[in-house]
Amino acid sequence: GITISCTSPAGAFYAAQTLKQSLTKDAAGKWAIPCMTITDSPRFTWRGIMIDSGRNPRSIEELKTIIDLLAHYKVNTIHWHLTEDQGWRLEIKKYPKLTSIGATRPESPMPGNRNKGDGKPFTFFYTQKEVKELVDYAKRRHITIVPEIETPGHAAAAITAYPEFGNKDIPGYKPRVATRWGILPFTFSPTEPTFKFIDGILEEVCQLFPDSPYIHIGGDEAPKQQWKNSPQAQEVMKKNGLKNEQELQSYFIHRVEKLVNARGKQIIGWDEIREGGLSKTATLMVWHDPGIAREAIRHGNKVIMTPFESTYLIRQEGPHPEGPEYEMATFSTIPLQKVYNMNPIPKGLTPEQEKNILGVQGSCWSEYMTTLAKWQYMVFPRMFAIAELGWTQPDRKDFTDFKRRLDRHKPFLDALKINYRTDSGEPAQPDAKMIRE
Ligand code: ACM
Repeated sequence: GITISCTSPAGAFYAAQTLKQSLTKDAAGKWAIPCMTITDSPRFTWRGIMIDSGRNPRSIEELKTIIDLLAHYKVNTIHWHLTEDQGWRLEIKKYPKLTSIGATRPESPMPGNRNKGDGKPFTFFYTQKEVKELVDYAKRRHITIVPEIETPGHAAAAITAYPEFGNKDIPGYKPRVATRWGILPFTFSPTEPTFKFIDGILEEVCQLFPDSPYIHIGGDEAPKQQWKNSPQAQEVMKKNGLKNEQELQSYFIHRVEKLVNARGKQIIGWDEIREGGLSKTATLMVWHDPGIAREAIRHGNKVIMTPFESTYLIRQEGPHPEGPEYEMATFSTIPLQKVYNMNPIPKGLTPEQEKNILGVQGSCWSEYMTTLAKWQYMVFPRMFAIAELGWTQPDRKDFTDFKRRLDRHKPFLDALKINYRTDSGEPAQPDAKMIRE
């Protein structure tokens, strides 16, 4: 017989995943489970992946298959990046132009040549009905979806839909949904009508994600030039005694935080939100130097770790075949072992302070992932290493053992047609479509 004891429904769910993973064949070729006792609990409460639907969204059906697989490996959080310069992907009933205008880009970068357009308009967004269905689907698998609504930058699509909430008083103002990757100049204006607009969006977002304690409000890579050039932004700085545009960004984030808090949730922001003054109550998502996490924790904040150097799944794992379908943002790689060996806890913290590291996340920016097969190639097997980082105590980690167990899982992944990267760099499913036609 099998006895499962747990202190929460999630515990029972994870025990069931362990059981499934322990299935083996006996000498006669029959399914069997070894005789054993397992006492287990996760190291971190945030065992996450960031899914970038702004650049190249996955369909609801694809997201369900992703959720099924991640749940099997006890990942419990999807950070869903829903808004970008290249497209706004979430239906907001109060502001229909966000999707009727903001969900379409006139063209995308050509696979294999990011500086050239493919000439094909691209439109995609999720209806509220679909989002509710997905949130519920994830919840039944003990995964919380945390939405990200980017402010004040990475907002060109929203500003194209509603130009009145950008810096409309600068010379040559002409927002457009972006057709190339990179950092765009458009930021929301730091004005009262804009905060009202953002609040209207948050009202619907909070209803769509009732179980997420957080709203991720972005905060990364917001260029300051438009604010420098905008008389109304400069006026806001003067009125509020702000010395520079970094402080204006901080003011902006604090204003958005108040809106989120008033709706009963906390904010998460990328680590740039500390520039110009970090709110004590924000949770910081660290993607730059892990030392930033140490500073933030000493400042009293909670932190989620997703360093570019070890968890950014936009970077290749290693050698790969030639061809436009393997184009990447950067030539530098993150081998599997580097992911597995990263330590989510920066040095120099007391055991009490270490508790403010909520966990670890793989961030899968999807500029160069136009199909599910390419997405899988970039994400697996490294996401299994991140799942283990999130779950397993450091004294039990062993890369050789991890590799041995990973090999045991490959027939399971093959049966599901998961296009993980093989040790040689070839895709596991040779017929999988790696590029959108
Ligand atoms: C980021 O990679 N811009 C958070």
